[in-house]
Amino acid sequence: MTDKGSADLVIVANRLPVDRVTNADGSVGWRRSPGGLVTALEPVLRANEGAWIGWPGSTETELEPFMEDGLRLVPVGLSDQEVEYFYEGFSNGTLWPLYHDVVAKPEFHRDWWIDYVKVNQRFADRAAEIASEGASVWVQDYQMQLVPQMLRELRPDLRIGFFLHIPFPPAELFQQLPWRRQILEGLLGADLVGFQLAGGAANFVRLVRQRVGHKTHRDMVYLPDGRTVKAAAFPISIDTAVFQKLAESDSVAERAAEIRTELGNPRTIFLGIDRLDYTKGIYARLRAYSELVRDGHFDVEDTVFVQVATPSRERVGQYRVLRDDIDRLVGRINGDLGRIGKPVISYLHSSYPQHEMAALYRAADIMVVTPLRDGMNLVAKEYVACRLEDDGALVLSEFAGAADELRQAWLVNPYDINGMKSALREAYDAEPREINRRMRAMRKTVLENDVSRWAQHFLEELAATRPEHGKVVRDSTPR
Ligand code: G6P
Repeated sequence: MTDKGSADLVIVANRLPVDRVTNADGSVGWRRSPGGLVTALEPVLRANEGAWIGWPGSTETELEPFMEDGLRLVPVGLSDQEVEYFYEGFSNGTLWPLYHDVVAKPEFHRDWWIDYVKVNQRFADRAAEIASEGASVWVQDYQMQLVPQMLRELRPDLRIGFFLHIPFPPAELFQQLPWRRQILEGLLGADLVGFQLAGGAANFVRLVRQRVGHKTHRDMVYLPDGRTVKAAAFPISIDTAVFQKLAESDSVAERAAEIRTELGNPRTIFLGIDRLDYTKGIYARLRAYSELVRDGHFDVEDTVFVQVATPSRERVGQYRVLRDDIDRLVGRINGDLGRIGKPVISYLHSSYPQHEMAALYRAADIMVVTPLRDGMNLVAKEYVACRLEDDGALVLSEFAGAADELRQAWLVNPYDINGMKSALREAYDAEPREINRRMRAMRKTVLENDVSRWAQHFLEELAATRPEHGKVVRDSTPR
């Protein structure tokens, strides 16, 4: 395939939308990658027929660009050391905890930083090769923050956008980073820097003023060479129509009924679905729930908590510790409070395809999303999209970006165990009318603001940053 210089829209993300997997029989296949970023961007790429540059999730030899399920994918390889230093190290041992309120302690290692720079340069080089003259390149997330500036140096003709899927921290935390200035300068290579919330954009502009010394006014940064950079909020969403359609299908309805039967037809099913990550607040949530069982507010005979924890970053120390902590907690709760065939918590350490997720959303009466900090949280929106009859309650952390839009959820402070207990009880005791009223309002929000609107909004803003310059990229087409 000759790729060079032909793509009018290029997405640069750490991961490809599919992971390369080696099956038991030695054959090689592809599996959908974890996390919200891929869920959000796949429909955007489909609508634009662009190219997606990313890591295929393995350390095998360099792969050629290929088509998979109609998507043009351009793999970038990482060595074993780069997986350890760039991905597990600087991305997920330094930036991830630092950007999430230092919920875990970030580690600062100079060797990790060196590989972060090296890998970002490789992604920028690849984007510079395949982007057409005047193309738009949309760089994604915290693993790629140096790419905008590196790419601008190689290809000043490009329009460059950057979107951060996770929170951008307040200056008080960000300035711990020994490489804070390089990261800010890396991002300033973009014409448009997008954040989930207005607070993130404001944090960024303030830091640029304080640490880099550029002039700023509101959401604009003025660089000495006359270029401007805009920082703004673009709250991401889901492909609502896909979830709605799944939820409407007979096969999902049948599977949802089957799940209820398998759980012993309880009166109430609580549900949590998260990547197994310390930012997600799984531990405190399960404690709050189990205390309500212990104190007799919920009865294991007719109530169950289904917790799905998707395996994630399993070689990073803090994630291993978390897995052991949750295993131990669930074992103790079920051992102390469960009965034969009636666990308090039905715990699944596994990832599921969208069809099964939709069936779980349909089966669950109360969805519990209580991260300690989260950029957006798409699971909360997916649940809402699947509640076709305006029933089902959402208990949602104030510290998830989604709480800005889903105001009618039962909002909780995930650090306040008693507060969470009250919210779980209120949702459990709520009258159907009250539940309907809240869900109806949240459904309106999620139906109106889907991921294609989000992409369209970002790409329009990007095109407007330098109107005299660059090609027109089609927005994500309405479905
Ligand atoms: C979050 C991040 C993504 C990341 C995903 C899965 O959604 O914002 O950038 O891809 O988690 O994490 P992983 O480390 O498996 O890519």
